[in-house]
Parts: sequence; C-alpha cells; structure tokens
Amino acid sequence: MCGIIGYIGSKNAVPLVINGLRNLEYRGYDSAGIAAVVDGKLIVKKDVGKLDEVFSKVDISNLKSNVAIGHTRWATHGKVTKENAHPHTDCKGEIAIVHNGIIENYQELKKELESKGHIFRSETDSEVIAHLIEEGMKTKNFVDAFNEMIKKIVGSYAIVAINKDGKEMIGARKDSPLVVGISEDGYFIASDVPSFLDETKKVIYLYDGDVVVVNKKIVIYHDGKPVERDIDSIEWDAEQAKKGVFKHFMLKEISEQADVIKRAIMQDDKIINEIANEIKKSKGVFFVGCGTAYHACLEGSYIFSKVANMHVNVTYAHEFPNYVHFLTPESLVIAVSQSGETADTLEAIRAAKAKGAKVISIVNVAGSTLVRESDKVLLQHAGPEICVLSTKSYTSQLAVLTLLAYSLAGRLEEGKSKLKELIRYIYYLTSRNTRDYIRKLAEKLKDVKDIYIIGRDLQYPTALEAALKIKEVSYIHAEGFAGGELKHGNIALIEEGTPCIVFTSKENEKEIISNAAELKARGAYIIGVGPRNNEVFDFFIKVREAEEANSIVQIIPIQILAYQLAILRGLDPDKPRNLAKSVTVK
Ligand code: F6R
Repeated sequence: MCGIIGYIGSKNAVPLVINGLRNLEYRGYDSAGIAAVVDGKLIVKKDVGKLDEVFSKVDISNLKSNVAIGHTRWATHGKVTKENAHPHTDCKGEIAIVHNGIIENYQELKKELESKGHIFRSETDSEVIAHLIEEGMKTKNFVDAFNEMIKKIVGSYAIVAINKDGKEMIGARKDSPLVVGISEDGYFIASDVPSFLDETKKVIYLYDGDVVVVNKKIVIYHDGKPVERDIDSIEWDAEQAKKGVFKHFMLKEISEQADVIKRAIMQDDKIINEIANEIKKSKGVFFVGCGTAYHACLEGSYIFSKVANMHVNVTYAHEFPNYVHFLTPESLVIAVSQSGETADTLEAIRAAKAKGAKVISIVNVAGSTLVRESDKVLLQHAGPEICVLSTKSYTSQLAVLTLLAYSLAGRLEEGKSKLKELIRYIYYLTSRNTRDYIRKLAEKLKDVKDIYIIGRDLQYPTALEAALKIKEVSYIHAEGFAGGELKHGNIALIEEGTPCIVFTSKENEKEIISNAAELKARGAYIIGVGPRNNEVFDFFIKVREAEEANSIVQIIPIQILAYQLAILRGLDPDKPRNLAKSVTVK
C-alpha cells in the first residue's frame, strides 16, 4: 500500500529518490518523506499531504547525499500526521527506515523496547523496526542488527534501512513487494519497477525472506546464506510509465485500450492452448480475484459458459477460505490480478496450493509474487497501470479470458479475429469525439447523489464494474444490479430524476428495455449504453454489438464518464481518497 525507495551510488540520491516517489505515489499519498546522510548525519524531512505538497513545505535544497531512502504513505496504523509519516528513526536519529506492510507483533515489541528506555515518537507499527536495529547495534554492526530485527518481527514487510555511516543500504521483504534496480552508477531498492525506470531497466525481484545488502555491490541472503538471483530486463520503457500528453494517468490508460487488446491477442498460442488443456483436465475450476479483477472473473464465468459451455466457480479471493475444503489435487484455481501483489489473492492461491490444487494466474506485472508462486502464468502485457483505478487492466483481463474460452472450445483463431475486429472501434471509443459527447452527460450528472446501473447476462458484471469506477473516482454513490433483481427490492430506491445506466445487447434487448421502462415509470432518467437507441432512453451512448466481448467495449464510455465526473467535481482521478493501487495488506 505504501511506496518505498532507496538509492545508494555515485549520483546525488535525493532527486533520484524524490523522482522515484513521484512514480510510486499511486501506492499511497497521504504523507511522504525522505532521509539522507549528509556529513555523517542523518537528515529526515517529512510531512503530511501529497508528494508535491510535502516537498514544497519541507526544505530539501541543501540535501545532497549518495544514499537516501523515501516513502509515500497509505495509513494503516496511526492517523495521517507528520509524526506517523516515514522515514522513522531510532532514539538518537542515527538509523532511518521505511516500511510497507504490517508488523503484527509491534505492540509487544514496543512495550519491550520502552522498558529498555526507547522513546517512540509515532503511533505506527513501523517505528519498532528502527528501535530494534538500534537495540541490536549496542553489540553488533548494522547488518547483523538488521538481521536480528528481522528474526523478531512478525507480519508482512518490505523494508529499506540506512544509518548515519551511509556505507550501505539494507532491504528485506516478506509478503510485500521489493525489487532491486541496477544502474550504471548505483543501486535502487524499491516497491515497484516504475520508480526507477528512468535510470535502469535491470532488476532483481527479491523473494520472500530475502535480505539484500547493497554498498558497492549487492549481496542477497536467504536464511542467513548468500544466494544468487536472476537479473531481469524490463520490457516497459520509462515513457510508458509517464503521462505523456495526457493530464492524468487515468485518461492515458483508458486511451491505451485498443493497443492493450492488440497485445492480449499477440499472446503465444501455445501458452493459451496449454492452459486451456489444464482447464479441461481439471475437476473443478475456481476464478478468484478482488475488486475489478473479481469483476473480470465474474464476466469470465459468463464467457466460459457461453463460448466453451463450461461452468466455473467464481469467488472474491478473500471469501475463498469458505470453499477451500472442496479442493483436491485435481482442482484448478485461476487467480486474476493486475499487480500480482494483492494480499487476499496471494492468500487464496497459497491455500489452494496447500490442498495440492494447481494454480494458474492471469497477471499484468511480470516478476510479481503471484507470477512466482503460480504453476502457470498468462501475462496480460497491458503495460504499467499507474492510476489507482483499474481500466486497461480490466479490458485486457477480459480479452485474455475470452481467448482462453475460445481455445477451450477449439476455436482460438475465431476468438482472436473477433477481438481483432474491435481494435479500430476501440480507438474510436476512446477518441476525443466520444469524450466530448460523454462530457455532456457528465455535466448533467456531476451533482447527483446516486447513480444506479443495470445489466443482464454478460452485462451484469459490467454493471458492477461501471458502478465501482464511478464511485471510487467521483465519490458519487453508484450501484450495479442485475436487471432481473430490480423488482426484488432495488426499485424502491428510484425517485424522480434518479439517473440509471442501462447496458443493452441484441440478445437481451427485450428484457432489459422492459427493466428500463420499469425504472422510467418511477421517474428515473435513463441512460442507454448499447447497439440500438430506444424511446425509453433520455440519453443514449451507442456502442456497437460485440456479443461476448460487449463488456470490453461497453465499459469504456463509463470509464470516461467516471473520469469526467471526477474532473468536474474538482477531484484528482489518479489518486482517489482512501485508496491505494496495490492492496498488499489483508
Ligand atoms: C478498482 C481497483 C481495485 C483492484 C483490486 C485488485 O479500480 O483497481 O478494485 O482491481 O484491488 O487489484 P489487483 O488486480 O492488483 O489484484
């Protein structure tokens, strides 16, 4: 949830770390800070607010150092205050740490440390890390004290630590992502690759339990012994992880969807067919994911049913424990995740593996924990998604699931050409024309309290996803229903003028239009999204019929609507309140 980065090398670490934090801000943005070693002293600058606010408040003009660490926070333990912002230091201000994760036993550790005279300044769980190292350094060097600290903490963590000597930077990970970047002039340790893509594409993905010590070289330890880890080369370039001509990442990523679908189609057929075979062989398939990825799973279950005549079970990853006892070594769990770091999803696949079940993942971030822990992986190749909201990763997940369904049906080529046909159309859907048209609707809806959304069949998950997009970025209450559920209670919510979005398709037109008419009869303002206009609609967004790929095209205008609602309401679409990109805590 938080973003951490450290640099050690021959360049000035301070601008590198601040630039890195800028690229990590999607992971958390309620406060930020930096610690650097200047003339043998550790200097810490931190405050509350988004990164630019923080670094306009604190003076870093004289900070020049060859080693620095930084943090952008998404609060878990302790309110959003300057004291709770990272980096945290020991009593003497000689050791600084940044941490992402949760130290579960921090209360006991804090009590113990306080009884030994340590003075705590924050309410965070993280601060114990600095004091534990300080305690260890009474008898040991920095590296050994760090290792001793790791043995004492319980929970999830990605940590980077430095001390006033500035000789080395130490990192460790368990259940929270941490990567090492290798540039020509030094080394980075960070939560995520985009943080240092401007400087290098060479990375080492650390494993859970790894400790990395970096000075003039890198040494990685696992269980106290030095280990070798592969150096990977990143396929994204720094430009892809930047906004370019777009004002916000959200709009950039919405606009990239035609290319994203193109890349999904370019998947290696061999891998798709292999995975389809695994699905065929298995006895019982579960799709698991969270948030938008869960909506992709749900949509996927309809696509599998329709295209491949196959039933799959779908569950939120955090609800999966309720079904684990059904798993056998012949079961297959398919986890869907953009980041590959969502704690709930990782826990689900670990539970599945413990039962001997096979795990296949559909993931965007190569090198993520989910990729490493799965038996087989289908990479989305959607490119970096920086906006906190999932947009292009959703449509890319749908494209990959569609290809799998067609492969299962023995018609992969047909599936590919169906998606290929949509590419030009998606360029049109994300063009300025569509955006200008939808802006008229956004202006009409910008001050409403509630928006309801209905869809039937394949468009029921689309309705859920559309509602999630609207509420998380505009803070307007939005709810998606299956069209058939309206009369079972939800219609009671409709008042004069209540906006309702209705997704239609050729297949269910009659039924869904009849639901729209029921809403209209109660005074609702009806927004139709689909292939054909109807007199019941007050506003119509034409989206051409794409059968089982309807969700891929129909969600796009609503992503644009959500974006424009945020802009018109004066909100930052890339950083919605209370949210963070990867939910690496449970
Ligand atoms: C919504 C959103 C979240 C994520 C969810 C899972 O726009 O981004 O709901 O979809 O947290 O994240 P991943 O896909 O990284 O597992």
